[in-house]
Amino acid sequence: MSEIHCIGVLTSGGDAPGMNAAIRAVVRSAKYYGLRVMGIKNGYEGLLHGDVFEMDARFVSETMHRGGTILKTARSKEFKEIEGVRRAVTEAKYFGIDGLVVIGGDGSFRGARDLCMEGLPTIGIPGTIDNDIPYTEYTIGFDTAINTAKEAVDKIRDTASSHSRCNIIKVMGRNSGNIALNVGIAAGAEAILIPEKEIDFEQDIIRPIEQGRDRNKKHFIIIMAEGVKADVTELEKKIEAEMGIETRTTILGYVQRGGSPTVLDRVRASEMGCRAVQLLKEGIGNRIIGVKNNEIFDMDIYEGLEMPNTPREDLIELSKILSI
Ligand code: F6P
Repeated sequence: MSEIHCIGVLTSGGDAPGMNAAIRAVVRSAKYYGLRVMGIKNGYEGLLHGDVFEMDARFVSETMHRGGTILKTARSKEFKEIEGVRRAVTEAKYFGIDGLVVIGGDGSFRGARDLCMEGLPTIGIPGTIDNDIPYTEYTIGFDTAINTAKEAVDKIRDTASSHSRCNIIKVMGRNSGNIALNVGIAAGAEAILIPEKEIDFEQDIIRPIEQGRDRNKKHFIIIMAEGVKADVTELEKKIEAEMGIETRTTILGYVQRGGSPTVLDRVRASEMGCRAVQLLKEGIGNRIIGVKNNEIFDMDIYEGLEMPNTPREDLIELSKILSI
């Protein structure tokens, strides 16, 4: 691969706390190694529309502690077509960008892979609160999101306990139960419902409540991932009818996507941003960065995206053991 002199950076898909720390690390590392760096606004959409500007080290000052993404983000329909991808490569060349860093989730990585195939060396940094990209144990934003959700559930527990109620809390995760599982374990939930597993109402909801009641429990917390195919109002009614326990639901929603990133999200994002620049500086593209056994690593983008998504059976089992 030929030498890289100018790096582009964009954020794509759903925003995640810590994305700014990754952008900052890309910009500052690029400057450290004497490379030019161009910010691209609004993800692939911005690349297609020439929303590109040169960044310097000062541009990313005072951004580390802020949630969201200073580069903004979007989901681009046009970029899903091969013509769009080709046009994006032409635009990148027009601005002198010869290597790109994409910070985003699974969908954004598929776009990054297409750019690699069309000849633009690209590095992916995983940024999504869902932590649902199979090749990596961790994605930027996950830690902040689960801590935000955990705090909310702790508060709901106070009122659940005062009223001896069952509270269902819906957390994010369209296709993945990772947020639900981690928050459920951290907050001591009686039941955790995830999209990867078929829900059996009697077995997964009524049984843990019954068992808890037999052991003198008076209130119950159920954590449900957004992607679970069950009507929560129906669930409330069924629990009340079958168990005689008042049941309420809280949907946490976008509050989980915002806020100042945790130390873990800031440090990991910084490490990943720097690694992305080091790879491109060495003339290495077409890689995705992740965390394995608590260490930063990188792997081939084509291989990484082939890996299957499997739920954490160990955490599912643990939650069952601990909820008696
Ligand atoms: O960022 C991931 C995620 O939060 C999913 O859990 C959720 O389904 C999705 O984004 C919703 O994002 P949007 O409403 O921005 O499309």
